[in-house]
Order: sequence, then structure tokens, then C-alpha cells
Amino acid sequence: MTRINLYKEKMKDVVFSPSFLSADFSRAEDELVKIERDGCRYVHLDVMDGDFVPNITFGAQFIKAIRPKSRMIFDVHLMINNPEKHIESFFNAGSDIITIHAEATKHVNNCLQIIKGKNVKCGVSINPGTALSQIEEVLYLADIVLVMSVNPGFGGQKFIESSIDKISRLSQMRQRNGYGFKISVDGGVNLENAHLLKKAGADILVSGSAYFKSDNRKDFVREIERIQ
Ligand code: DX5
Ligand code: ZN
Repeated sequence: MTRINLYKEKMKDVVFSPSFLSADFSRAEDELVKIERDGCRYVHLDVMDGDFVPNITFGAQFIKAIRPKSRMIFDVHLMINNPEKHIESFFNAGSDIITIHAEATKHVNNCLQIIKGKNVKCGVSINPGTALSQIEEVLYLADIVLVMSVNPGFGGQKFIESSIDKISRLSQMRQRNGYGFKISVDGGVNLENAHLLKKAGADILVSGSAYFKSDNRKDFVREIERIQ
């Protein structure tokens, strides 16, 4: 399968990754097609296990089923405990980016290496209550650092303001050390706070409810990716 590789976009560009969590699951294929028609190049797929987070969504089988319906980059966010057990199946399902949570495994370094070994992009995510120092030792390995700006589990929550400062500090760490990871931010992202996130150093903006509830989704995508 040949999929577009837009990962090599310039750092100055903001990429929008809509969270499928807010889509109408009863019309999954139509929703996916619509997201692509809205001009999105990424789609963010939230996998929840009811253990690491209180909610349960879908797994690798669902991702595999929708994979042939789209050429977008499948940005898979694993909110599951012991993700190392499932990397293989999410890779086989056709994920382009696999992000694990630092809090969900004792073996963050190993997990990232396993993902990298599959030749897909690896991401490490931290919850709002987790300090950046927890991932300091794996930053050299990460392609993406996903900063959660709500407590993971549900869409439609209020953005946690302190995430902006966290992103700024992460961006400084990246610059100081010459790391190549992209900074992604997830939770409560909307057209109002997007410019602050971009200014702080975010490269990928994930948004579920704000995008799905917007009057014109196409305009939303255009506007959020134009943010300076
Ligand atoms: C939350 C998920 C997010 C969520 C974002 O646990 O990881 O991706 O869908 O949704 P909004 O943008 O509504 O906060
Ligand atoms: Zn997410």
C-alpha cells in the first residue's frame, strides 16, 4: 500500500490531526472519507483499554478494517497499559505513527525501539500530571512527543492551561539538545488556543470536539493549519 508521506513537512508548518473519537462511529467509513475531503492529511485514532484510562474505544481490528478506506497518515494514540504487547498488531493494522504513554509501561525505551524497528514513527506521550523529566532519557529516540492537555479518556474536556508552558519547556529542551522530534498536543485544542500552542512550539495539533462541532469543517482545517 502506498500512502502519502507528509511527515517530512517543514517545522514551521502546523499539521492538524483530527481525533476520530468525536466522529459518528456508526458511519465510520463516511466520516473517514469526509475528514480526508476536508483537507486533512492525518487522522488521530484514540485507542483506549478501560484500564490505563476509564474509557474503552476500539483496537487494531477496527484500524485494520478502515485502513483501506483512506490514504491519510494514521496517527495512532495508544492509551493502553503495557503497549509493548500490542505494538505488532497495531503495526500490522497499518498505523503510520504509534504513540505510547510513558506512564503505561516500565519499558519506554524498549517500546520506542520496537516501534522504530517496524519502520513507523514512534511517539511518547505524557499525561498532564507527568513531568517532562520522566521522558528526558528517551527524547533522543522519539519522533513525536505528545503532550496531553487534558487527562486522557474522553473528548470534549477543558484545555489545561499549564500545558502551554510545558510545551515551551519541551521546545527549549529540543532546541538545546538538537533533538528532531515533533511536538504534538492533544485535548481541548481549538481555534482560540491554537496560536498559543503553535507559538509555544507545537507542530501537530490534535482536536476532536472543536473540529467535529465546527459549522464548516473544511474552513476549520484551513484556519488551524494557517495559524502562525
Ligand atoms: C483524549 C484523546 C483525545 C481527544 C481529544 O483522551 O486522546 O485525542 O479525542 O478530543 P478533544 O479535542 O475534544 O479534547
Ligand atoms: Zn488522543
